[in-house]
Amino acid sequence: MKIQGSVALVTGANRGLGKALVSALLEAGASKVYAAARDVSKVTSSDPRVVPLALDTSKAEQIAAAVEAAADVTLLVNNAGVASSANVLTASQAAMDTDFRTNVFGTLAVIKRFVPVLERARGGATIVNVLSLASLGSFPALGGYSASKAAAYSITQSLRAELKGKRIEVLAALPGPIDTDMVKDLPMPKTSPADVAKGVLVGVERGEEDIFPDPMAVQMGALWNKSHKEYERAFASF
Ligand SMILES: NC(=O)c1ccc[n+]([C@@H]2O[C@H](COP(=O)([O-])OP(=O)(O)OC[C@H]3O[C@@H](n4cnc5c(N)ncnc54)[C@H](OP(=O)(O)O)[C@@H]3O)[C@@H](O)[C@H]2O)c1
Repeated sequence: MKIQGSVALVTGANRGLGKALVSALLEAGASKVYAAARDVSKVTSSDPRVVPLALDTSKAEQIAAAVEAAADVTLLVNNAGVASSANVLTASQAAMDTDFRTNVFGTLAVIKRFVPVLERARGGATIVNVLSLASLGSFPALGGYSASKAAAYSITQSLRAELKGKRIEVLAALPGPIDTDMVKDLPMPKTSPADVAKGVLVGVERGEEDIFPDPMAVQMGALWNKSHKEYERAFASF
């Protein structure tokens, strides 16, 4: 879909990749961007096209209110996410629950409530789920998080099939490490959120089902296409 003239909603828009996605959408000509955040006072953009929206994706009543307030959305970007659980052997059940509640069930709950809105969009609509290279193969240092992102990838595939014919495209964005709070303690090369956001929007405009939005993602995506086993081994060795 064309970003120009679209009405976008970005979850987790107050910082990190979500904030960069809001800026990139404005730069690419979106006519309105709902910047959804748990704490709207942290949405700082002064662009008149930005509409702050209170939304904790784990709260059903807030999702329902967001659907009422943003009934003209044509591009839903499910960016909100957490990485609470690390190694699967040592992560607490509470940490695993947090990752699955946010990355899987929160994302699905938002999509379910927004499907009727997206169905009404003249000219079709798009859902982008911000997943991770860890959706395609586990990064054992973040094994619990990887499992949640793999589940979210599977749900993305289900939705793509189920929404086919309703003129709603369902895309997966699969970034490598991004220079945000989420991985600030992991010493590894990272791409800036601004560059990842631009890469995501290029993929949206091309309608790519699997968007690899940064140089590491492109490289790892090529390996995944070549051999899922080699991909798994490469991730296991990081
Ligand atoms: N950083 C990476 O290396 C990396 C790599 C691949 C994919 N990703 C994915 O990119 C997305 C953005 O991550 P990030 O790197 O920008 O992380 P971040 O800087 O930690 O930001 C996470 C965002 O998600 C929001 N959020 C968390 N739980 C939420 C909930 N229940 N309801 C609404 N918002 C919630 C946070 O809001 P608060 O400010 O209120 O906490 C924050 O705005 C995530 O889906 C992440 O899994 C990140």
